[in-house]
Amino acid sequence: MFATHIDASRGKAHLYGELATALHALIDGETDWIANLANASALLYSALPELNWAGFYLLKQDELVVGPFQGKPACVRIAIGRGVCGTSAARRETVIVPDVHAFPGHIACDSASNSEIVVPMVSKGKLLGVLDLDSPTFGRFDAEDRDGLERFVAILLMNEAS
Ligand code: SME
Repeated sequence: MFATHIDASRGKAHLYGELATALHALIDGETDWIANLANASALLYSALPELNWAGFYLLKQDELVVGPFQGKPACVRIAIGRGVCGTSAARRETVIVPDVHAFPGHIACDSASNSEIVVPMVSKGKLLGVLDLDSPTFGRFDAEDRDGLERFVAILLMNEAS
């Protein structure tokens, strides 16, 4: 069994450092992309405070399709350019939304969500999908979360074999 002892009380930079170490250990030697995404979503959801959804949407035939996640059941398909996920995918950059109710076109999957961050996953110039985190807390995500989660995605992509 894989056990994590991640201390969320010492600040975000420390927390994301611990998450990076935990992710390295979790995916070490494993190139099954779905298995790694599944464990990564469980790691994020169990280690990061104030989340109600953590997971992935994967690019399939020009749209985003829900992949491994933790949280309530979510919308299955999102068009590129739609919602926060589709916007991040279209721009290929991280999008932080402090108040989802003020984001035009936001797709409400869980009514508990009030803020959101979406990080694109781009490997060798190819968009593979996005990482999406939702929180019930307004303004939950900031530049430290962006930096930590972009690093997290970069680690995941190291074991992506396609
Ligand atoms: N809110 C997202 C949809 C996905 S769920 O939050 C899990 C969006 O606007 O793209």
